[in-house]
Amino acid sequence: MANEKAKLTLHTGEEIELPVYKPALGNDVLDVTSLVKHGVFTYDPGFMSTASCESKITFIDGDKGVLLYRGYAIEDLAVNSDFMEVAYLLLNGELPNKEEKQEFLDELNNHTMLHEQLTHFFNGFRRDAHPMAVMVGVVGALSAFYHDSLDINDPEHRRRSAFRLIAKVPTIAAMCYRYSMGFPFVYPRNEMSYAENFLNQMFSMPSTDEKPDPVLVRAMDRIFTLHADHEQNCSTSTVRLAGSSGANPFACIASGIASLWGPAHGGANEACLKMLHEIGDVKRIPEFIKRAKDKDDPFRLMGFGHRVYKNFDPRAKVMRESAHEVLEALGAKDDPILKVAMELEKIALEDPYFVERKLYPNVDFYSGIILSAIGIPTNMFTVIFALARTVGWVAQWSEMISEPNQKIGRPRQMYNGEKKRDFVDLDKR
Ligand code: SDX
Repeated sequence: MANEKAKLTLHTGEEIELPVYKPALGNDVLDVTSLVKHGVFTYDPGFMSTASCESKITFIDGDKGVLLYRGYAIEDLAVNSDFMEVAYLLLNGELPNKEEKQEFLDELNNHTMLHEQLTHFFNGFRRDAHPMAVMVGVVGALSAFYHDSLDINDPEHRRRSAFRLIAKVPTIAAMCYRYSMGFPFVYPRNEMSYAENFLNQMFSMPSTDEKPDPVLVRAMDRIFTLHADHEQNCSTSTVRLAGSSGANPFACIASGIASLWGPAHGGANEACLKMLHEIGDVKRIPEFIKRAKDKDDPFRLMGFGHRVYKNFDPRAKVMRESAHEVLEALGAKDDPILKVAMELEKIALEDPYFVERKLYPNVDFYSGIILSAIGIPTNMFTVIFALARTVGWVAQWSEMISEPNQKIGRPRQMYNGEKKRDFVDLDKR
């Protein structure tokens, strides 16, 4: 695969040749695997300059604000496709034709229900537990029930666990919400689409036969598509690392959910909406912009900035259009929070601090406004992110696991602790 060579002269004067790979898209890749033989490590906390793996699934060009799922632009998929086609695409590499799509949906529908005994797990949680705590617990517990899909070396087991995870996460997510509200669980309805089924399990009440609003179903489906995958982000890297030890797929996805929860990552949508409500009025925006720039204040503008995008996050643009459409359709286009978001975006994008640091709105900036309009409570926002990202995690895990000679991920360190010293007995300390 090496296309070129790089020469490295070490501090010791030793000259080393390193292979350079020219990928289909993106930065050239310097292969440093041989460095350890020369007694040196690379040092890259946060992995700012590290390609952790080779992948064919998602490509991001942070400078140009480009996001491709298997080569298709996210803008095209969000407008012209739907989440189930995107799930098929991420998993299989191609968009499905009609028969393939129907087959995919039929197989997913075989797995939407949970083993009834799993419903008892919820009773072990406080009603006011954060739904992400429940998601981590229940998704991890799936490995205690589905023993015929744990063997990662069996392609049929892997396929079955992929379908079970993608089909069951909406059911579990809705159950988290229902449990927190003291509402009865709603069983999946397989005649409904994926997003419609989820909203029905979230909001259907025994007293009515009301179906989810098609406008909200479309918005939910689009949000799922926009969150489906994103290259080697924090939670996907967590899933890959867990998977590299041979852990079962349910445990790996549970580790991704745990990692996504952080406010610097998937927890930002919940934190962003809380911030917009705390700002409350466009008049208070300058006060928050000032705080975001103050190095002594840990406050950051939630929904702004990104490790990779140094331009607009293309998902934020689609999300912003969707926010307007949904609020318009719901007759809430004058929603004060949307006004605060729009004004905050405008001011930040004109402020030198944000411009110099290339801080733009990311996927989490507008998603909360749409999720709120759909009726999703704030503490469920990251659950929605995890629900959608399960497709990407499963696709990335499957890609990794099916690679030959897969190695366990085991980074090294730069040690600056104590050198070897003699033990001192207690009475001499
Ligand atoms: C997601 O990786 C992915 O792909 C993630 C994701 C996905 O789909 O999986 O896209 C989903 O996690 C989106 C990001 C959601 N997080 C937030 O919105 C939280 C707010 N954003 C920041 O915490 C931050 O921007 C990060 C964590 C997203 C990125 O941080 P980096 O790349 O480590 O950048 P940094 O912290 O080094 O910041 C660079 C500079 C610093 O200032 P200086 O030290 O140079 O003076 O920019 C400043 C930071 O202080 N900065 C911000 C800021 N983000 C960065 N200042 C104010 N507000 C912010 N939001």
